[in-house]
Amino acid sequence: MSKRLFIRTYGCQMNVYDSDRMAESLAAHGWSRVDAPEEADLVVLNTCHIREKAAEKVYSELGRLKRLRAERAARGETMLLAVAGCVAQAEGEAMLERAPFVDLVVGPQAYHRLPELLARRAREQWAAFATDFPVESKFDHLPERSGASPVSAYLTVQEGCDKFCTFCVVPYTRGAETSRPVAAILAEARRLLASGAKELVLLGQNVNAYHGEGPDGRSWSLARLLGALAELDGVVRLRYTTSHPKDMSEDLIEAHGRIPQLVPHLHLPVQSGSDAVLEAMNRGYTAEAYRRIVERLRAVRPDLALSSDFIVGFPGERETDFEATLDLVRTVGFAQAYSFKYSARPGTPAQVMRGQVKEAVKAERLQRLQALLAEQARAFNEATVGRTVPVLIDGPGRHPGQLVGRTPWQQPVHLDGTGLQPGDLVTVTITGSHAHSLAGRRAAGATGEGRA
Ligand code: SAH
Ligand code: SF4
Ligand code: F3S
Repeated sequence: MSKRLFIRTYGCQMNVYDSDRMAESLAAHGWSRVDAPEEADLVVLNTCHIREKAAEKVYSELGRLKRLRAERAARGETMLLAVAGCVAQAEGEAMLERAPFVDLVVGPQAYHRLPELLARRAREQWAAFATDFPVESKFDHLPERSGASPVSAYLTVQEGCDKFCTFCVVPYTRGAETSRPVAAILAEARRLLASGAKELVLLGQNVNAYHGEGPDGRSWSLARLLGALAELDGVVRLRYTTSHPKDMSEDLIEAHGRIPQLVPHLHLPVQSGSDAVLEAMNRGYTAEAYRRIVERLRAVRPDLALSSDFIVGFPGERETDFEATLDLVRTVGFAQAYSFKYSARPGTPAQVMRGQVKEAVKAERLQRLQALLAEQARAFNEATVGRTVPVLIDGPGRHPGQLVGRTPWQQPVHLDGTGLQPGDLVTVTITGSHAHSLAGRRAAGATGEGRA
């Protein structure tokens, strides 16, 4: 049997990481990755359940794949269909009611069992499932990383969440919070660096709650882990995402002033600027507490660029609550942000709360918030024009001959790629700014990552 694999990834960076790990796990059994479902013998959808739209996308894609499979069957070709990720975990066997043609359903904690599930599906007539939360960690059973790494490489250090924000499915789809041991992370980081990575992006649904076991047998904080990673040969930049304001501990804040590779950019979702809404969301902090965290971060790293997530139209959100969010945005100032209309999710407490906000009101608030955030992002990018900054080259740019890299503040910069290659750290003068990116030209002189 030919073993060609296609994976489509939805959702967050942890799913991107997981898709690579699934591919590696299957590669050990002879599977190679292809770029289109039309060429694949196995199609995996690695899904996201965070908002209704995200979950619905999966079913429309499954409909298309069902037709593709019928066309290919008519030509005598077989194509297996697997659903992985958070929709698989949330819906489990119920998925087969809407999509009875699916062959495999595998939750995020069971990817190491994919080869076994495929074998089981081949023997049996019915779909194979793995959506329990296994006792053993998938990380102990997935093969070692292999192949070339991207310049900016993802590394999952923590999974799951115990925070139970009232709107969120993650604690149910990813399970309880767990941290990988320090030694396993350092080993994976060394392999990524040896195969071309220059930037390590530490991932976790609640990454700053990290508390993995250190080589000394003690529990290490994220700050301590970052310190150890910064010591490895070849680490140009370090980042971590996504953080919860409640876990922004003193030692982590202090790390932003101390670890030179830690980029001056932090994604710190606030969700709302209203204390009443934050409480109903079970976020565990007030707007004032968030402001204080930002102040402390900026005291140790004055050029820190902040990014955030916002939800508008959470149940009970009044116009005055929404205005408190706008006020927080104005006073804190964000370089970049994601904002969403509240989406009621099955099984979450907020789904059955009183005061569900009308769609039109959500849409109107989202538009006002996004206008303000876009204005701040534009001003932030414009302020970079004329400055000379270190840029880490990621890969091909928009036009032939161009490359794209990123500033320490995560802004993409397009520039002439002559004499450059991905992974280079170069000094660039910023010549222009757009809504979401910058243009630049190489500057003479030495390159050094450091304070701006
Ligand atoms: N762990 C992160 C967020 C993970 S989900 C944190 O605690 O901040 C990514 C973002 O999706 C969230 O920050 C939130 O803004 C948004 N989100 C999550 N559930 C949502 C829902 N039910 N409706 C709308 N947006 C939601
Ligand atoms: Fe979801 Fe809240 Fe956990 Fe973030 S902290 S993953 S929003 S429950
Ligand atoms: Fe989506 Fe699951 Fe990530 S719900 S955002 S893929 S953790």
